[in-house]
Amino acid sequence: MENIATKVKITKASSSKLSSVDFSNLTFGKVFTDHMMVCDYKDGSWQTPEIVPYGPLQMYPSAKVFHYGQAVFEGMKAYKDDEDKVWLFRPEQNFERINKSSKRLAIPEFPKGHFFNGLEELLKLDKEWIQKGFGNSMYLRPFVIATEPGVSASTSSEYKFMILCSPAQSYYSGEVRVKVSEDYSRAADGGVGFAKAAGNYGAQFFPTDIANSEGYQQIIWTDANTHEYLEEAGTMNLFFRIGDKLVTAPISDRILDGVTRKSIIDLAKDANIDVEIRRIKVAELIEAANAGELKEIFGSGTATVVTPILGFGYKGEKYELPKIEDSYAKSFKDQLLKIQYNQAEDKFGWRY
Ligand code: COI
Repeated sequence: MENIATKVKITKASSSKLSSVDFSNLTFGKVFTDHMMVCDYKDGSWQTPEIVPYGPLQMYPSAKVFHYGQAVFEGMKAYKDDEDKVWLFRPEQNFERINKSSKRLAIPEFPKGHFFNGLEELLKLDKEWIQKGFGNSMYLRPFVIATEPGVSASTSSEYKFMILCSPAQSYYSGEVRVKVSEDYSRAADGGVGFAKAAGNYGAQFFPTDIANSEGYQQIIWTDANTHEYLEEAGTMNLFFRIGDKLVTAPISDRILDGVTRKSIIDLAKDANIDVEIRRIKVAELIEAANAGELKEIFGSGTATVVTPILGFGYKGEKYELPKIEDSYAKSFKDQLLKIQYNQAEDKFGWRY
């Protein structure tokens, strides 16, 4: 990858919190490392990126992000191999996607040199926080918020780009079952569903809380027009194994272009698995489940990696998936982890 030199200003934390962390018992996204990256946009340009001690921000309560949700984010992970080398997985994809999301939210694009040099300096400082071993990683959360004070409903002229680091284990602590949405929608044609816009996630909490109360961990969103087609799960893209075919919805302006999703498609094609990237109806899923043809459903995402879905609910009916020996989900997860932790050949050139 081209290296674009960018100066990064570093202010180290006076002491480390590292020794106070119980790495064997981490809740996803709760613990943050000693440092964070911050870069401000003002007077029409991004300023010098800085690494500073992790801590609260000072902002005006009128900052536009609080009123209009002008905010985008990314999810990435850093992995440590047996020789203590730190690896990222396809980070250029996240860099490109945050700028795609920013463009849709009228946020100025972030420079590549700022992104990669800032991230590398941050990881150099906090690399002790990354634990070795499959399943241990450091979740990285780049995000951008509109900081200009003022409540006029118009584009901000000031922003803050930041990266936070959070040591992570698994995202879900137990079994995952999903509810197929019958009425609520996540995204609409022409909207912001493809972007990692903060509001896409916040808007899911209320329907997801209802699904949680009914015993489901997540919702499978259906298309806003007809609710007949399966789309994504909000924190994950989805794959359906019908017979030995793997089916996933095409990305669109409603569906996130997931990095793990596209990597699984490449791995599946490489293994000569028949991959169909096409719209899939709820009716087809139910028919396949009733005919015993639906062998697996799994979600993919940076935070959730590859998550098998054990069952789903639709219109009050519950469907359980069969236990499976030669699980695609398990195989893709193993292959991805081996690449991510530098334990397998990287034939696609995904490690950084
Ligand atoms: C990720 O996988 O990084 C995501 O963005 C999901 C997140 C909302 C936890």
